[in-house]
Amino acid sequence: MVNNRKVAVVGCGFVGSSSAFALMQSGLFSEMVLIDVDRARAEGEALDIAHGTPFATPMKIYAGDYADAADAAIIVVTAGAAQKPGETRLDLVNKNVRIFQGIIPQIRDSGFEGILLIVSNPVDVLTYAAIKMSGLPEGHVIGSGTVLDSARLQEALGAHLGVDPRDVEAYVIGEHGDSELAVWSSADVAGVPLKDFCEMRGHFDHEEAERRIAEDVKNAAYEIIDRKHATYYGIAMSVKRLCTAIMRDEKCILPISALMVGEYGISDVAISMPTIVGRDGVECRVPISLDEEELAELHRSAKALRDVIDGIEVEL
Ligand code: NAI
Ligand code: 2OP
Repeated sequence: MVNNRKVAVVGCGFVGSSSAFALMQSGLFSEMVLIDVDRARAEGEALDIAHGTPFATPMKIYAGDYADAADAAIIVVTAGAAQKPGETRLDLVNKNVRIFQGIIPQIRDSGFEGILLIVSNPVDVLTYAAIKMSGLPEGHVIGSGTVLDSARLQEALGAHLGVDPRDVEAYVIGEHGDSELAVWSSADVAGVPLKDFCEMRGHFDHEEAERRIAEDVKNAAYEIIDRKHATYYGIAMSVKRLCTAIMRDEKCILPISALMVGEYGISDVAISMPTIVGRDGVECRVPISLDEEELAELHRSAKALRDVIDGIEVEL
């Protein structure tokens, strides 16, 4: 039985605690279990976050284990090593797959039937690993993917154009990482093609602006990690957005990472593309149109992820 008012967060470091803090404020849940190998850490975060509930909505927040999470509607997994300055997300793969071997089978064995939301990096590879290890229906295992990168793109374009970023419709797809791509060909603001909107706002050097903004978005995490050693607020808001879409059965379109089953000719890899997200996780992938170069880039990104999966040192 799934308790539709319960969420669990596995991993209570920077990302897990920030996500838990955002979820406490969301009003979506009345119970939240925090799990970490460092039990004292989970207890400390639970106490600290619970002290905010009088300013939000009543909620039971406590440190627990996998049995406590068995009936959660969503388990958010943020456990694992994070990048150090100079490391890529893909450099974390073997360390974090091993950590997942200690987590996902416990979730499976608890009888969990909800949605598994993977955040730990490399998120696409770990989403794929979690699908294999969990035995859950494929559509119930989703990765936060390029939801964060797309938010970064919206924020940057909003600033560039002097417009509310929520009115910018532009996606980053592919790997959440170095091979990601911004889909410029179908980007728009309030239905106005992006290039036309740029010219309306006095920007005419499209190629240079697109190159610069896409690079800034791709490198955002490196820039933040160089300065403060971790990123966590942007992803915490992304987690809250995803949990809202699921719990309210919004059927909104978000670029999550999920198993590809032939879309754009790509299979057997988890990667981000716009997806209708609702109570059952992945409702349907949305094959937005890509130009020739974007399609080639998406294929390169999928190949890069497939190569990493093939090189994983342990059997999934
Ligand atoms: P952190 O080091 O602050 O926290 C990791 C936590 O995981 C620690 O509290 C640790 O005790 C816990 N942990 C380790 N092994 C565990 C296990 N077997 N069971 C339960 N808990 C375990 O790291 P941070 O900054 O919170 O990052 C966590 C992950 O999130 C990293 O892989 C990072 O790259 C990723 N991340 C992903 C983002 C995304 O957009 N998908 C954005 C930002 C970070
Ligand atoms: C981010 O993009 C590091 O994946 C993390 O902030």
